[in-house]
Amino acid sequence: MKMVLGIVGSLRRSGNSEVVIKEISRQVRVPHELRLLRLPEFDLKYCNACYRCLMGPQGCVLKDDLNTILDAIAEADALIIAAPTYFLSGSACLKTFIDRGLAFYQRSDQLWGKPAVGIGVAGVEEKEGSTILDIERFLLVLMAKQKSVRMIYGALPGETMLNQENRALAKELATALFAEPQQEEVRQGLCCSYCGGETFRFYPGNKVRCMLCSESGKLLGEGGQASIEMLPSEHPFVATEQDALNHRDWLLGMLGSFKEKKKTLAGVRGEYADEVPLIKPVRE
Ligand SMILES: Cc1cc2nc3c(=O)[nH]c(=O)nc-3n(C[C@H](O)[C@H](O)[C@H](O)COP(=O)(O)O)c2cc1C
Repeated sequence: MKMVLGIVGSLRRSGNSEVVIKEISRQVRVPHELRLLRLPEFDLKYCNACYRCLMGPQGCVLKDDLNTILDAIAEADALIIAAPTYFLSGSACLKTFIDRGLAFYQRSDQLWGKPAVGIGVAGVEEKEGSTILDIERFLLVLMAKQKSVRMIYGALPGETMLNQENRALAKELATALFAEPQQEEVRQGLCCSYCGGETFRFYPGNKVRCMLCSESGKLLGEGGQASIEMLPSEHPFVATEQDALNHRDWLLGMLGSFKEKKKTLAGVRGEYADEVPLIKPVRE
């Protein structure tokens, strides 16, 4: 029996994110048990950039729920993530979690390549801003294998499941989750050959950058005939497990370089050490 973990990016109980995960699970034909994790219920502190999680097997030094979440993900055979749009992007819990991603490298053998589908929810049609990209980024940093990430619309809790098209979409995602590689939908046209991302920023000289993996390419052709050719990367980041581990090693190298330059850097930082009024949180 497979275990599928549903990651809900909303605090609304039986809200749209939760019901669509349950609907997808009901339509998955592979026998499985569904478990749910409501991400914003967990205590997740901000990364403090100490890099200590990279230096040994002890993981992150912050005392919070990160490992409980990572354990649940590691135990799962597949992931379904659904998150609401809040102010034109995916809800903040997605980013707080992936900002702790330096700690994921130690567990890459347990995390890499888990099949995953994602759904963004927005209350107003087409007003999702970057939600799809935020969910794709969540899955990319989590080292999951993205099968499909789509949007559905509905403002009121549960409203999305009044719509038969959304139920049909849930079925598509359910089929995609455990689809064999040869059945996988191949992204065509304007997409990044490193990560499959479909969101680009355009620069002068027909240069483009993939907003998912940040690799660069060139826009070729014109209008309806346009295509994107990605360029060789000097520092691939996330496309393969080896890229991820090479990046971890590069970060470890930077720690060595920090030791070498510490004195020089202390000089520069000293120049900016003048006290300016610092507003602190007020605690009871
Ligand atoms: C703080 C906040 C901000 C929101 N911002 C947007 C938005 O920018 N665009 C949009 O279409 N819907 C927006 N919504 C609506 C939610 O995305 C919508 O109600 C969704 O169904 C919530 O999903 P849930 O039921 O899983 O919580 C916002 C809702 C809240 C509470």
